[in-house]
Amino acid sequence: MKRIILLLLFLFVASEAKYLESKSCKECHEDIYAEHTKSMHHKSSLFSDEIHRKVKELSGEQNYSCALCHMPSTKNLSAVIRGTEEPDPKDVRQSDGVSCFYCHQISKVHYAKAYNINFSSASGDDKPTMFGNLNNPDSSDKHHAEHNEIYKNSEVCMGCHSHKENDLGFEVCNAKDQYDKTSDCIGCHMPKASGGNEKFNKKGRDEYATHNFLGIRSDEMVKKTVKLELAYKNDTIELTIVNKMGHAIITHPMRLKFAKTVVLRKGEVIWSNFKESPQEDKEATFIVAFKDSEGKPAMPHTATDYMLNQNLKAMSAKTVHYSVPKLQKGDEIKTTWISYVISPKIAQKLQITSEEATKAYIGAQESIVVQ
Ligand code: HEC
Ligand code: HEC
Ligand code: HEC
Ligand code: HEC
Ligand code: HEC
Repeated sequence: MKRIILLLLFLFVASEAKYLESKSCKECHEDIYAEHTKSMHHKSSLFSDEIHRKVKELSGEQNYSCALCHMPSTKNLSAVIRGTEEPDPKDVRQSDGVSCFYCHQISKVHYAKAYNINFSSASGDDKPTMFGNLNNPDSSDKHHAEHNEIYKNSEVCMGCHSHKENDLGFEVCNAKDQYDKTSDCIGCHMPKASGGNEKFNKKGRDEYATHNFLGIRSDEMVKKTVKLELAYKNDTIELTIVNKMGHAIITHPMRLKFAKTVVLRKGEVIWSNFKESPQEDKEATFIVAFKDSEGKPAMPHTATDYMLNQNLKAMSAKTVHYSVPKLQKGDEIKTTWISYVISPKIAQKLQITSEEATKAYIGAQESIVVQ
């Protein structure tokens, strides 16, 4: 079945128009280009994302099924996926990652069990059509422009972000909401900035949708992840964690996110919810880990079940209780949200040392003083 779907996909890709590299958009869409080149969409390929490359290498397989989402513009996509052709760092269609042209050619998303499929409606025309969400787009020498509803209701994100099963049919990532649907991805991840979307701005637009696609690598975004609430009664600290996002706290199995709670007396820590590892407090730690068919710890490609599944769905809340020694007036209870791009244990295993991947991103903080 999977093979038939893949075949279908390639038929659609085969009739594609001439590829326009991301760099070529810079001439007119300067700001959007600058934002995009800093984003993980531009850096999603095997050549630019060290974490992705190392996880891929771990599988030890020749084929590169990851190309479907990590370098979807690849011309010989089916051959690269099957492993009969090698990825080529000199091919800009590959190093462009999730490119401008690719994203703006998606006309429809087909929902499927293992992962969804992006349908590209490119014609063989010299002047391709870019889909988007503008009302009455101005004309350009380089392309036609056309409104398509999926650039408004965020369906366009679901071709790659919805969910993914590994070859064994086990789901390893998921960015769907609490009702198993898409949320307003664009509203949260493409906030508007002032100015036109293109340097001549003949339509006199005063704002455009930004393309930084910030996520876990942004302190500013990490601060918007959860709301923390604290209370102290009957010698018990009550911590409520509210997930404010349109998806679960853990969407990808590499991550580690947790709330660290301490009690301070005259500036000294007299109690904390964990000593060495946040996993000592499973209730306030969000992490998933997999096992293989023999019950041994597994990376995503060999997983058949969860070893650990400590997650919290979109827009939902949980309350954690800590019994603590009797506190005194003036003691401060303080909680901090902390995120890691890669959980330190996996980072060590994969020998990943870049600061971006191994540093703690500090999110929301909340504190109360005992009365
Ligand atoms: C169905 C689309 C899809 C496929 C196929 C896919 N990925 Fe991904 N991958 C994603 C998305 C979307 C993200 C971003 C997820 C997030 O941050 O929550 C991602 C993120 C990652 C990350 C985290 C990278 C970072 O720098 O933070 C790794 C590692 C990764 N993928 C590895 C792989 C490997 C290895 C394969 C092939 C075996 C693969 N992916 C196949 C969609 C896909
Ligand atoms: C020669 C200038 C020029 C170049 C180069 C250019 N564009 Fe455009 N583009 C425009 C103009 C003009 C508009 C209309 C702007 C408006 O109405 O505000 C536009 C609009 C768009 C839109 C909005 C479409 C809609 O209906 O919402 C998208 C998407 C887009 N361009 C993508 C691209 C991509 C991707 C590239 C590179 C492959 C590119 N453009 C290269 C001039 C250009
Ligand atoms: C063609 C596939 C594809 C489409 C379509 C797509 N993405 Fe992504 N996206 C990815 C991949 C792959 C990654 C992970 C790149 C990596 O880390 O290597 C990613 C990463 C991200 C990230 C995380 C960045 C980070 O810092 O870790 C965000 C946020 C994001 N995408 C949002 C969106 C939104 C919103 C949409 C819809 C407008 C969208 N994406 C459409 C493939 C896609
Ligand atoms: C991950 C998919 C994705 C990628 C990659 C992407 N875009 Fe977009 N782009 C969108 C979506 C979705 C919208 C509509 C957002 C909205 O209207 O809120 C959009 C809107 C636009 C617009 C209209 C902006 C406005 O609000 O006036 C232009 C122009 C555009 N993109 C050009 C580009 C260019 C140029 C690149 C690469 C440098 C690029 N896009 C990369 C998804 C993408
Ligand atoms: C209500 C706002 C909101 C909505 C809606 C939303 N997100 Fe997010 N998303 C966030 C915030 C805040 C983060 C930062 C998360 C973090 O660091 O834990 C984030 C993180 C991410 C990440 C990176 C997660 C990680 O751990 O690497 C991806 C990928 C992502 N979002 C994609 C999407 C997609 C796709 C949609 C739509 C299906 C979407 N988001 C809807 C707020 C939102």
